[in-house]
Amino acid sequence: MNDQPAIKEGYLAFYGDKAGNSGGQGGKTMCGIVGIVGHSRVTPLILTTLKRLEYRGYDSAGVATIEHGELARRRAEGKLINLERRLKEEPLDGTIGIGHTRWATHGVPNETNAHPHFSDGVAIVHNGIIENFAELRDELVRDGYAFSSQTDTEVVAHLVARELARGLKPVEAAHQALKRLEGAFALAIMFKGDEDLIVGARNGPPLAVGHGDGEMFLGSDAIALAPFTNSITYLEDGDWAVVRRDSVAIFDIDGNKVERKRQQSLSTSFMVDKGNRRHFMEKEIHEQPEVISHTLAHYVDFVSGVSKPLDLPFDFARIGRLAISACGTAYLAGLIGKYWFERYARLPVDIDVASEFRYREMPLSANDAAFFISQSGETADTLASLRYCRKAGMKIGAVVNVRESTMARESDVVLPTLAGPEIGVASTKAFTCQLSVLASLAVRAGVARGVISREQEKTLVRALSEAPRYANQVLKLEEQIERIARELSRYKDVLYLGRDTNFPLAMEGALKLKEISYIHAEGYAAGELKHGPIALIDENMPVIVIAPHDRIFEKTVSNMQEVAARGGKIILITDAKGAAQVSVKTMETIILPDVPEIISPIIYALPIQMLAYFAAVFMGTDVDQPRNLAKSVTVE
Ligand code: G6P
Repeated sequence: MNDQPAIKEGYLAFYGDKAGNSGGQGGKTMCGIVGIVGHSRVTPLILTTLKRLEYRGYDSAGVATIEHGELARRRAEGKLINLERRLKEEPLDGTIGIGHTRWATHGVPNETNAHPHFSDGVAIVHNGIIENFAELRDELVRDGYAFSSQTDTEVVAHLVARELARGLKPVEAAHQALKRLEGAFALAIMFKGDEDLIVGARNGPPLAVGHGDGEMFLGSDAIALAPFTNSITYLEDGDWAVVRRDSVAIFDIDGNKVERKRQQSLSTSFMVDKGNRRHFMEKEIHEQPEVISHTLAHYVDFVSGVSKPLDLPFDFARIGRLAISACGTAYLAGLIGKYWFERYARLPVDIDVASEFRYREMPLSANDAAFFISQSGETADTLASLRYCRKAGMKIGAVVNVRESTMARESDVVLPTLAGPEIGVASTKAFTCQLSVLASLAVRAGVARGVISREQEKTLVRALSEAPRYANQVLKLEEQIERIARELSRYKDVLYLGRDTNFPLAMEGALKLKEISYIHAEGYAAGELKHGPIALIDENMPVIVIAPHDRIFEKTVSNMQEVAARGGKIILITDAKGAAQVSVKTMETIILPDVPEIISPIIYALPIQMLAYFAAVFMGTDVDQPRNLAKSVTVE
């Protein structure tokens, strides 16, 4: 056996080498925002930061400054280079400014929808999704505000302007407007008449303050600010900041001042860093609300509530079945996908781990389609399965995170996950993004096959759009999950149980624990308990049960009773209804928000990732690079 982990091709494909040569990063993932309260002409500095944020999106770019006392902006569709050209033709003066590079969610990528957005005396840039924008827009239209774009962002500009019109000062106007927003967002707001003020706000997507000498910065990540400063304060969820040339004050949503530590970022030489997290895995777990929202926005239209038409090389209505193949965590995402395609689209799915798929000589039909799921797009077995299906004449879709990977190149259609670079060897955000893609595609297939009505589609898309917010709520359970993980780390064996989509999730929970904490764990279909694993149950093997209050909740409760009757210790992951109705004594109960069925696997993935993460931290293992594993396995 080869004792060397295989080469991390996915990693290099994303980042290039340490000398700064870029790799094949294809992931346009999310918007980037920046704000600078400076002391010299600010547009060149903003362009520098936007260049470093361009990996987050390049549908359009824009910049606004205060020029001779007035708000002024330049915007351009497409890549940053177009904005640069625009600025050469029509330069902008001013020492304060905000900038944006866009990855479109609401509204097509044209100049009108490009940020910054303006309303009377207010300029704004935004990354994320304002979930209640439709309701706010109706309210503002009734108040006489005219909308010039299709974006959700414009409501924020008008909301702030309305507070100003009501007589509030800029900072208070921003604060009042922020209180009205639901969803995931990072914002930078600038005001005509105050050349020493940018208000930043964070709820979900990251936002960092960079401390300069007589100048102050805001940016989506420290990488963007690295050319100017390494002294960084990361805003936490719910924080908003009053940024001035010589000071920064940070507040919570109630307006109480909060202290956030200032730290040295290492991001100058290396294009990625851990932010203020201990491990990449921790950072990647926390990025999920944002990357899930960007992935979903690629496949569904939140405004009209429909799944987007994709340029597929086959018609979902005309195929008899779908084959899915993948390895590791990506395989488990595929297994959940099977439940979705069969439930929502009545489309039969064959799924295999790739190392089996290619050798078991299953009958394949050139009239069918096959999906291959892979973070790296390079995994040897998955790639071989892809080639095997291609030879059989099947139409190939690649659900990959690295856009220029081999699988992407060799497929008929690339179905990207927009997770951004994933460094931790144990996959987290790539997994929930894979689920986001598969859920959206299942809805699309359901509509195409006449199984889902337009009304049902709307309800499902609405449910999908809520996933980022619920994911954010689950991340707040960190303290409880950390405590439970400390307890778990004392055991040698753990059993995970679940039914329906929670069965693959149980396997994923077990896989995560094995991979990084080296605790032996098994994931089982709860109904199979009595056919074997029940023999292992005693007080030395905790049983983690994933059971939201769904159609089959009662069945899972029966299995829990079987565990309890044999002295097993149960950790239950459920929702409030489940917790209220469970009749079995549990050692711990983790209560998640009550979520729609279709997003349940996405949301329930988070606590199992967090349990594994903290267990590994307590065990003192190498969390990001666990022994014997590799991020991308390019050998058979
Ligand atoms: C390795 C990684 C897993 C990953 C699997 C498949 O085993 O440790 O986290 O799920 O490979 O990788 P892929 O890049 O194809 O998703």
